[in-house]
Amino acid sequence: MNPIPNTIQIGSSDLRVAPLGAGAWQWGDRMTWGFGRGYTRSDAEAAFLASVNAGVTLIDTAEIYGNGTSERIVGDCVRISPRPVVVATKFAPLPTRIGRRTVMRALDGSLARLGVSCIDLYQVHWPFPIIPIEMLMDILADAVEMGKVRYIGVSNYSVEQMRRAQAALAKRGLALVSNQVEYSLLHRTPEVDGVWSACRELNVTLIAYSPLAKGLLTGKYKPGQPLPGTRRFMSGMGGHMLERLPPVIQLLTQIGEAHGGKTPAQVALNWLARQPGVLPIPGAKNAKQAESNAGALGWDMTDAESDQLSQVSLEWRV
Ligand SMILES: NC(=O)c1ccc[n+]([C@@H]2O[C@H](COP(=O)([O-])OP(=O)(O)OC[C@H]3O[C@@H](n4cnc5c(N)ncnc54)[C@H](OP(=O)(O)O)[C@@H]3O)[C@@H](O)[C@H]2O)c1
Repeated sequence: MNPIPNTIQIGSSDLRVAPLGAGAWQWGDRMTWGFGRGYTRSDAEAAFLASVNAGVTLIDTAEIYGNGTSERIVGDCVRISPRPVVVATKFAPLPTRIGRRTVMRALDGSLARLGVSCIDLYQVHWPFPIIPIEMLMDILADAVEMGKVRYIGVSNYSVEQMRRAQAALAKRGLALVSNQVEYSLLHRTPEVDGVWSACRELNVTLIAYSPLAKGLLTGKYKPGQPLPGTRRFMSGMGGHMLERLPPVIQLLTQIGEAHGGKTPAQVALNWLARQPGVLPIPGAKNAKQAESNAGALGWDMTDAESDQLSQVSLEWRV
């Protein structure tokens, strides 16, 4: 039995959050998600409110989401939020950002858009090809000392990159607290590439992005009913994937029915939230989706059901 805890601590930080967060890439992004076409800023605000009212306490954004729009929306929402939330954002390691000054300028931009003086969790969005990890962690440690950042995380880092980041921060008396990587029933790579076990060993929370496989695990996309927009052209999101999907969706539906009508998406998120040290952050375009995602918590599937899901998704454990 592996019941989902009421709260989880992010790494060794004092950030204690609900075991399901909310992703904010959707709030402002036109190219992948079609923000402004079919849903608007007021839908994003309603999604924020629905998430917080349903008990979500961590919001994940990034400076590149909607070219700053997501951070602005999150900042505006947080200011009028009925409850305190932990805000996580990300530094984009663009090739033009080659030194301390450019990193600090990016951080100041995020602080301004979010309208805060300190960011709870500042993550490096992907491994930085130009600044060595040790130097980048040193710059971020300075940001912590300056009071602009509370905790440091990374994203899309391999085991070796995590270890280097952790060792560099340890020299400054700090700890790496999270690594945000893709993890879902349709992308179980962290179980086999060593990242999840390294996270547990290093006391680093694995923040699971695309936990609904960008919508595939909702069951609404089927062979002949492809994903809209540019999503269908992304790796592993095309027609071939849709053809392999039905057995997974059937099992999610069956388990959902056995628990009073939970949706496939809620069952898929529940399975992920059961994994120790894993924090899923589904993205929602509106209040209905946000509320529904929060309904992934508050109930437990059985071990046997969880095992069945692990079994039916084995081909994605690569
Ligand atoms: N660090 C990174 O490199 C990285 C990369 C990707 C994402 N992220 C983070 O992870 C978050 C989540 O990942 P994601 O946005 O890629 O994908 P996701 O959470 O797997 O899927 C989100 C999409 O699924 C659909 N959906 C969500 N909830 C639904 C519901 N209850 N019912 C029906 N449809 C629903 C919506 O799209 P439709 O309605 O259009 O189908 C929504 O935009 C992002 O917001 C972002 O914060 C980080």
